[in-house]
Amino acid sequence: MKLGRLNHIGVATPSIADSIVYWRDVMGATHIHEPFDLPEQGVKVCFVDTPADGPNNGTQIELIEPLPGNTSIKGFLEKNPLGGQHHVCFEVPEIHAAREEFIALGKRVLGEPRIGAHGTPIFFVHPKDMQGMLVEIMESPKEGAGH
Ligand code: CO
Repeated sequence: MKLGRLNHIGVATPSIADSIVYWRDVMGATHIHEPFDLPEQGVKVCFVDTPADGPNNGTQIELIEPLPGNTSIKGFLEKNPLGGQHHVCFEVPEIHAAREEFIALGKRVLGEPRIGAHGTPIFFVHPKDMQGMLVEIMESPKEGAGH
């Protein structure tokens, strides 16, 4: 595994609308993207940019709200009613190579790579194999693709 850029921190929330107010008015975020549904994963997501030294280069906060029928984020919110940090996402150059490396290390990879919120393939690795953190691995967007 070649550790890449920290792309985002996933934060579960019972209300993206309320979280946007927090990130804007308390944390001073000036670039909050339009929320959108990711029905394949049963969630609504909203990206909040943190500043960077170049365009589209900062780590983001990924706000995640469960859509009706969602079980995993809903379960997380039942244990953590205020919401909270849910996962961390690191970039890799090539998703299938990274997946094979984690499997070779005996890590529990959760499912096949699928298209994530940035439109590039992702997979998750079980927190019990990852120092207690749910880790999302994401293929880096190609040059010029932005977010
Ligand atoms: Co994520």
